[in-house]
Amino acid sequence: MATVLIIGASSGIGLATTRLALERGHSVVAFARSAGQIALQHARLRKLVGNARKTDDVRLALAGVDAVIQTLGVPANTRMITGPVDLFSTATTTLLPLMKELGIRRLISVTGFGAGESRSSIAPLQRLGFNLVFGRAYGDKDLQEQLITQSGLDWTIVRPGVLINTRKVGRYRVLVSQQNWRNGIVSRSDVADFLVRQLTDETCLKQAPVLVR
Ligand SMILES: NC(=O)c1ccc[n+]([C@@H]2O[C@H](COP(=O)([O-])OP(=O)(O)OC[C@H]3O[C@@H](n4cnc5c(N)ncnc54)[C@H](OP(=O)(O)O)[C@@H]3O)[C@@H](O)[C@H]2O)c1
Repeated sequence: MATVLIIGASSGIGLATTRLALERGHSVVAFARSAGQIALQHARLRKLVGNARKTDDVRLALAGVDAVIQTLGVPANTRMITGPVDLFSTATTTLLPLMKELGIRRLISVTGFGAGESRSSIAPLQRLGFNLVFGRAYGDKDLQEQLITQSGLDWTIVRPGVLINTRKVGRYRVLVSQQNWRNGIVSRSDVADFLVRQLTDETCLKQAPVLVR
């Protein structure tokens, strides 16, 4: 069983991952600016209030950790559209040297379908709309992915399709090869399932699969 740091643990995929990792016997450091408000209690859960942009906060969070799951997100509002967005690249630039310094090798990061080379799998007409709405955020996710793939760490990048909320883990597809990449829906619980599995499964090491139903 691992001790995992979840960066962005207070809502969405991060919260679902926190819950599932605990259920599956792992210990969790749940990190977010609002980590104190996480409504979970568990002997193997440590809630840590901190900012992923701040080196001192992240260094503290990494103490005693075996692996890191990054599930950061920015609010879906006009600022995401008009930008600038730099959370993903800044937080990753903060994290990577600290992981190397502390000898923590396993990094599992959520970006999204449309990040990196998966952008070219969006149909051309849809890509126009995608760029208009998500261009700033995904431009920064592109940078985040580049930083991760060049890090030399044992990384897996996870690119979910459109997120929906269902509590129960269901069936989802892990599309590893580029020729199969497509958009679709996937639940946050299913993404969480995949993320937690990566703690004990190295099949997707140095891969960036798309997750859809
Ligand atoms: N919506 C979709 O359909 C879709 C599709 C594909 C991919 N995605 C991506 O999937 C990811 C997760 O999305 P989600 O909706 O499940 O998550 P979310 O609810 O947006 O949660 C984001 C998390 O990041 C944390 N966070 C933000 N800024 C932080 C900071 N400076 N320091 C520490 N923590 C910080 C938030 O906590 P605090 O605010 O408390 O700090 C929160 O825990 C996002 O990157 C999103 O772009 C979304």
